[in-house]
Amino acid sequence: MQNPIGIFDSGVGGTSIWKEIRKILPLEDTIYLADSKNAPYGSKSEEEILQLSIKNTEYLLEKKCKLIVVACNTATTNAIDELRAKYEVPFIGIEPAIKPAALRTKTKKVGVLATKGTLTSNLFYNTSKIFAEGIQVFEQEGTGLVELIEAGKVNSEETKKLLVRYIDPMLQNGIDSLVLGCTHYPYLIPVLKKILSTDISIIDSGEAVARQTKAVLDKQGQLASENKTPKHIFYSNTDITVLQSMVKEPNIQVAHLDF
Ligand code: DGL
Repeated sequence: MQNPIGIFDSGVGGTSIWKEIRKILPLEDTIYLADSKNAPYGSKSEEEILQLSIKNTEYLLEKKCKLIVVACNTATTNAIDELRAKYEVPFIGIEPAIKPAALRTKTKKVGVLATKGTLTSNLFYNTSKIFAEGIQVFEQEGTGLVELIEAGKVNSEETKKLLVRYIDPMLQNGIDSLVLGCTHYPYLIPVLKKILSTDISIIDSGEAVARQTKAVLDKQGQLASENKTPKHIFYSNTDITVLQSMVKEPNIQVAHLDF
């Protein structure tokens, strides 16, 4: 079936998930929606995050998407249950990779860097309770990081300083695994690698989300099978320059959209 996969995020961060999806589903058409005008979602109320997620979903459904990837930890942890109850299309969500981190840690101390909206959600609380038993979890809100990435300032001194401020206390506490609980943060990995020693594992959920997307499409008999060049369309409701710089590839269209 050639209907596209729909992907949305509060901004450009979900392109880190799109890249994983593209790797294992190279035949699929995709439509990506960056709601950058409303970023960051992380400081908004649960109700506001839900209303924005509904708006994004309805746009992608108008475009006949066969499955929607909520490529945003904050939107997943605050709104995915309601989205699943309201719409028939399958939703794939993303939440901080507590389980793999708990399995991997040797010090039994794990750091989680995520937005306030994610860290205060019931879903995050419940997942931590189930999978992090016997593990000490050090939570850190990444206030300001999404804004810097949205502004194209990934490699700035300002970003590095903020990261050091957030990561240092976790290192002092002896973490050996750092969970990136926001889809914007994989873009910080090169900077993080300069701050962290090589024995600290950086864990994110992007690949798992892509695998789950493939499994669900396969189960529903909806995998794209036609051997044609897939189409990828990216929409942003602000200036498209940063988004464009993140998905520089052939056969990709990046456009401004008012929504
Ligand atoms: N990429 C979003 C996430 O994964 C960022 C949320 C925000 O806009 O604060 O949580």
